[in-house]
Amino acid sequence: MKYCFNEKIDRSNNHSAKWEEMGNKFISNDLWPMWIADMDLKTPPEIIEAMREKVEQGIFGYVYRPDSYYKAATDWLEKRFQYKIDANTLINSPGVVPTLSILVRLMTKADEKVLIQSPVYYPFASVVKDNGRELVKNDLLRDEKGYYTIDFKDLEEKLADEKVTLFILCSPHNPVGRVWKKEELEEISRLCLKYNVRLIADEIWRDIIMPGNKHIPIASLNKETELNTITCFSPTKTFNIAGLQASFVTFPVKEEWEQFDRELGILDVKRNSPFSLVAFETGYTKGEEWLEELIEHLSGNMDYVIDFIEKKLPELKVQKPEGTYLMWIDFAGLGMTKEELSNFMQVEAKIALDDGCWFGDNGCGYERMNVACPRYMVEEGMNRIEKAVKKWRKTK
Ligand SMILES: Cc1ncc(COP(=O)(O)O)c(C=O)c1O
Repeated sequence: MKYCFNEKIDRSNNHSAKWEEMGNKFISNDLWPMWIADMDLKTPPEIIEAMREKVEQGIFGYVYRPDSYYKAATDWLEKRFQYKIDANTLINSPGVVPTLSILVRLMTKADEKVLIQSPVYYPFASVVKDNGRELVKNDLLRDEKGYYTIDFKDLEEKLADEKVTLFILCSPHNPVGRVWKKEELEEISRLCLKYNVRLIADEIWRDIIMPGNKHIPIASLNKETELNTITCFSPTKTFNIAGLQASFVTFPVKEEWEQFDRELGILDVKRNSPFSLVAFETGYTKGEEWLEELIEHLSGNMDYVIDFIEKKLPELKVQKPEGTYLMWIDFAGLGMTKEELSNFMQVEAKIALDDGCWFGDNGCGYERMNVACPRYMVEEGMNRIEKAVKKWRKTK
């Protein structure tokens, strides 16, 4: 390996939300932090070097985006997903969640409804509700092994409601780790087109795909789907630069591009910071080798967790994610209520994982573990859980 992912990390003085703002979500600030989706791994050295050069210029005034910025994004898309798009359909925005929020307002009327697939990344529900729109949920199906699929019968029923006019799709899916297959994407698109429902594809995870799986941008399926889809993506998960806060949106319909651009103008959030400008372009032009090695490292961490659970924690269940670096672990075998499980994780295991209930009622009983970290952090997390489970067994 050219890059090292097992270096001991020190995030003190890093103003890390994961490490130092834990107390806002959990009982204390000293749990073992494997929650929130950023990595306890350094960003690629190529990005650090490019940012260092920027720092050394010593001037951080307003910046414009050169053509090479968008070209880096479209070239990456073509190379990684064999999907060619016109750079003029792209817009830079301050982040995927702000984009979703703006789009809910722009694309729906006050009495219309927005569909999401539950369990799902929790801001999906809040951007809908906070903007005063009614939320409609298509619950994912789960087999006894914990593998999730789409309930297409229910999806069709929900999309057939003429008040449902927008669908926010998470592809790949956080937290269940599915990388949707071509047939699934085709069916989603077919139903959206049939019932005249606009599709927003949040593809922020599309670069983090485990070996043996392939991400297909839903807009790449065919021209009709492309015109019906607004895609959000960003290299922030890919290269661990989420704190730089920027993202892309693809608008194949020109009038909608203009409408969104006007909205960003009203909020005056059209510019990048000098650092996101440099980091994004460098990641997309020089980060591929690092990403390939990162995926190998993440896959190894996942295998470690799976093996640990198989050998030592038969009460728990987990599937290897097809994409993302988030493991969706089923704790239902402990037979705890949601309050008991939350208490167990924090007080007994002293670990901070994203509580499954945050992702929807049907996420309760699960915990989401972030394994984008050096191996020793995964080992420590699993040992803490094992110790707590052993203690719990004695009470049975
Ligand atoms: C599906 C999904 N969308 C969006 C985001 C956050 O995007 P941003 O930081 O650009 O708002 C995350 C972060 O975990 C995510 O998982």
